[in-house]
Amino acid sequence: MKNWLNVALPKGRLGEKVYQMFEKAGFPCPEIKEGNRKLIFENAEKKVRYFWVKPSDVAIYVERGAADIGVAGKDILLEYKPDVYELLDLKTGKCHMAVAAKNDFVDDRNRTLTVATKFTNIAKDYFAKQGRVIDVISLNGSIELAPILNLSDVIVDIVETGATLKANNLVVVEKFTPISARLIANKSSYNFKAQVIEELKSKLEEQTENI
Ligand code: PRP
Repeated sequence: MKNWLNVALPKGRLGEKVYQMFEKAGFPCPEIKEGNRKLIFENAEKKVRYFWVKPSDVAIYVERGAADIGVAGKDILLEYKPDVYELLDLKTGKCHMAVAAKNDFVDDRNRTLTVATKFTNIAKDYFAKQGRVIDVISLNGSIELAPILNLSDVIVDIVETGATLKANNLVVVEKFTPISARLIANKSSYNFKAQVIEELKSKLEEQTENI
């Protein structure tokens, strides 16, 4: 493990895109493209090891040192505030945090607002800044259902294309905080493996300059 670079990538479309950037940066691992069910991939020559991790878990792997570096969405960093270094905005996986509601939703500021979300801390911070009292309902996915079924007044969720909201007759009430993928590092790995991490970071940074 010691002189290898251990990288936690978010499993899925974003991870595949980000892997291409790592490959271009000089850290290839061709086996990763085989599309099997493996979760760990190694390139002994380059001393790099990739893990496919559930996107919301990347920061935990990195914070606890199971991975030296990783790629996590800014949403996850804002929500869980992991104790890691945020090294670089990869300028991909771009979306926004947004409050959304049914087309006909009319807010009554004298009432407690019910908010369904996966991002309870982000939602609490956002509405606290507005001086708004809310009742947060913590859900794990398909958040758009909540206002439709009158489980909540509004939702706080990620909006990328807006297609999910549109398909469910919901509209954006307010977009806030832009989100994108970030390169993060374990604090002690960053000290011990500074050279290789900095080299990778600058090669990734070059790629983001054209985005
Ligand atoms: C996210 C988010 C929205 C959707 C937004 O869901 O929660 O549902 O993407 O994208 P759009 O604006 O392009 O339609 P995700 O795919 O992460 O699944 P989830 O329901 O498990 O949160």
